[in-house]
Amino acid sequence: MNNFAVFASGRGSNFSAIIKAAKKGKIKGNLALLVCDNQEAGVISRARRAGVKVAVVLRKDFASKTDFENRIIQKLKENNIKLIVLAGFMRLLSPEFVRLYAGQIINIHPSLLPAFKGEQGIRDAFEYGAKITGVTVHFVDEKMDHGPIIIQGAVKIKETDTLESLEAKIHKLEHKLYPQAIELFLDGKLEISGRKVCPRKPVTR
Ligand code: GRF
Repeated sequence: MNNFAVFASGRGSNFSAIIKAAKKGKIKGNLALLVCDNQEAGVISRARRAGVKVAVVLRKDFASKTDFENRIIQKLKENNIKLIVLAGFMRLLSPEFVRLYAGQIINIHPSLLPAFKGEQGIRDAFEYGAKITGVTVHFVDEKMDHGPIIIQGAVKIKETDTLESLEAKIHKLEHKLYPQAIELFLDGKLEISGRKVCPRKPVTR
C-alpha cells in the first residue's frame, strides 16, 4: 500500500478534505500518519476521529532541530511513508531533511506562486489589490514556497469580496486540488525535470 503522511500545525481543513477524498476512492493510498508540532491544533482531533495515527512531535522537547527532525524521520520509517504532504505545517524543514526525502514532499500554498509567498498569502494578495490569485501545489525544495509546481488553480478577486469571502474561495479550491495532486503522485504520474513537473510518459515496448 502507498502510505503517506500529512504534516500540519493548525485546524486541518485540508487534512479532512484528503480523508474525504480517500474514503471516496479518489486517492488510492493510505493516510497512515499525521505529524503535528502543536499539541493545541484542531487537526489532532480530526485525525483521532478518522482513526488516523497521530505523532505529536514538539520542537521544545528536543535540544536541537536535528534531534526534532530525527524523531519525525523515525516515525516516518516506522510507518513506511512514501509521500509527505505538508498542509499548514508552520515549520521550515531543514535542507538535510528535504534532501533525505527529495521529490517526496509536497506543499500547498494559498496563492499563485511565485506571487505572495509566505505565511499570509491570501491576505497579501487581497491587500495588494490583485484581481486574480489562487492555489499552488508544489514539490518542496530547500527554499520556502519555491519547488517545482504540480498544479495551480486561479480564483478571481471581485470588488465585492472581503478577506473572509476570499479565504473561503481559496480553501474550497485547496480542498479540490490537494487530493488531485496526491493521487497523481501516488499513481506514479509525476516526473520532475528541472523546474517542470510533467506527466510521466507511458512505457513503450
Ligand atoms: C492552507 O491555506 C494552506 O494553503 C496553508 O496553510 C493553510 C492550512 O489550512 N499552507 P488547514 O489547516 O488545512 O485548514
